[in-house]
Amino acid sequence: MLNISGLNTRYGQIHALKGIDMRIEKGEIVTLIGSNGAGKSTLLSTIAGLVPASGGEILFQGENITNMAPHLIVKRGISMSPEGREVFPALTVAQNLRLGAYSKKTGELEDSYERVYALFPRLKERLPQPAGTLSGGEQQMLAIGRALMADPVLLLLDEPSLGLAPNLVLLIFDLIQSINDQGVTILLIEQNANAALSVAHRAYVLETGNITLDGPAEELSQNDAVRRAYLGGK
Ligand SMILES: Nc1ncnc2c1ncn2[C@@H]1O[C@H](COP(=O)(O)OP(=O)(O)OP(=O)(O)O)[C@@H](O)[C@H]1O
Ligand SMILES: [Mg+2]
Repeated sequence: MLNISGLNTRYGQIHALKGIDMRIEKGEIVTLIGSNGAGKSTLLSTIAGLVPASGGEILFQGENITNMAPHLIVKRGISMSPEGREVFPALTVAQNLRLGAYSKKTGELEDSYERVYALFPRLKERLPQPAGTLSGGEQQMLAIGRALMADPVLLLLDEPSLGLAPNLVLLIFDLIQSINDQGVTILLIEQNANAALSVAHRAYVLETGNITLDGPAEELSQNDAVRRAYLGGK
């Protein structure tokens, strides 16, 4: 589904991605783990067209989408739930959801709303509420729900469990599983590597702009270096 080769991204002098190779097959959950500043968010933003690639190629379903305009990438079927939620605080829950599907006509949205409400019943109860007054966990649900409104085939999730209480973290991971069960392929970034590796099929480790390891999630969770660096093991 997604085939990335030799991807480079720079912010002026900072070389954030230094030749990334990665593939994601249809139906997979792939997780990307790495320390703060490794380049995880940069990779998602580059895939989504929000940050320009300075080299390399991103193929999505056989089409070259490198440096395509973000709204065209959403139209192709990739949507992102960004780090730190980034819901529009002054807009209501309903308005935030509607924005996730801005390229669709209002009459085409019924199924998308129903799917989001089925996954996140709490959002349905809070449609007229300004998003800025939602709890942290609810804002996270809204950010994921908003991304789902575009009916993505590939969903990019940037740290969906960040800052959530342990019971909500479990809920978010259950929801990620359910979304994947509905046929959505997922690229998941997580600091919570234990949880990410338990839900993912495959994993990549990113260190200062380079992929240093990849393999089945099960295998990486047993890897000594991964355990030491990311799983709190010895
Ligand atoms: N807009 C920007 N301008 C300049 N440098 C940036 C910008 N965004 C990110 N960087 C730099 O690029 C590198 C990678 O950042 P990125 O946000 O991708 O890391 P990350 O792996 O997502 O980290 P975290 O786990 O803290 O979210 C960092 O050194 C960061 O300072
Ligand atoms: Mg990040």
